[in-house]
Amino acid sequence: MDCESFQLIQVASGAKSLRSLRYNETFHPVVGPMIEARGLHVVQHRFIERAMKNPQIPFVIWDVGLGAAANAIAILEVFRDQEIAVPVELHSFDRNLEALDFALKHAAELGYFSGWEELVATFLKEGVVQFRNVTWKRQSGDFRERVFDLEIPAPQSVIFDPYSPASNPELWTVEIFSALRKRVGEAPCLVTSYSRSTSVRTTFLVAGWFVGKGAATGEKQETTLVASTLSLLEQPLERSWLERVAKSGAPGPLTNGMGEKRSATEVAEGLQEHPQFNSIHAKESKTKEILK
Ligand SMILES: C[S@@+](CC[C@H](N)C(=O)[O-])C[C@H]1O[C@@H](n2cnc3c(N)ncnc32)[C@H](O)[C@@H]1O
Repeated sequence: MDCESFQLIQVASGAKSLRSLRYNETFHPVVGPMIEARGLHVVQHRFIERAMKNPQIPFVIWDVGLGAAANAIAILEVFRDQEIAVPVELHSFDRNLEALDFALKHAAELGYFSGWEELVATFLKEGVVQFRNVTWKRQSGDFRERVFDLEIPAPQSVIFDPYSPASNPELWTVEIFSALRKRVGEAPCLVTSYSRSTSVRTTFLVAGWFVGKGAATGEKQETTLVASTLSLLEQPLERSWLERVAKSGAPGPLTNGMGEKRSATEVAEGLQEHPQFNSIHAKESKTKEILK
């Protein structure tokens, strides 16, 4: 694959962000990198509160799509602003470092690297760096393979930030979301995503996750917050949402092309059995069997 090229653009808020010329997508549209990273991802994960619940075990965060590291820096800010005695592991996945290289060349315009330059330079050089209680580690290669790597500890938080399903379809599939769900097992885990599309939501549900409304960002009045247990969601999608699935022209679930395509009505009917919508199956452990 040839080198990915980028452009620096000014978004509506006045902040600067990267635009991928290959995918024709802006990394953090409308509000810019740090407002999106903090408001959409960091706040919803409640890192400090959740990490403190089990201070004896490391709190593991997966940053899927390191890109220009805005999300990673926003995570580090949390642990700079509040010191806790819990070890935190931040694993940043990307198949290349092209966006980060480009971003660092434009660090002054982007602004958010201010104070982090040395740390990011070491991270780039060594692939791992320690900041207070946080070990920040680079995980190179394709996430479709790395998700299965048992040497990487399973996450309690996932920031899922690849390009859109249209540009980056290989990562938005039942196969990937199921692999992630299996890695998490019984542990409480939250996933944040900027997508609010019906097909992405059905894909998470079919893969055995619980799905709720996520925080607003930019022009989006809502995004998606996904969890391994229902109790982690403040606003789970209600059963009435399945009516929207039944009428949808693109109900999902998104797949890697294998398996039979089901009609919107069939998808909605299948999801009625999901414990999120069916109190008879509300015992969360049943999720996977029902949706297999
Ligand atoms: C929109 S950018 C991420 C922005 C980033 N989170 C930030 O804060 O700047 C998407 C990133 O996902 C990466 N990506 C896309 N497909 C991937 C794959 N299959 N495996 C690993 N990384 C992938 C791209 O290389 C790109 O850097």
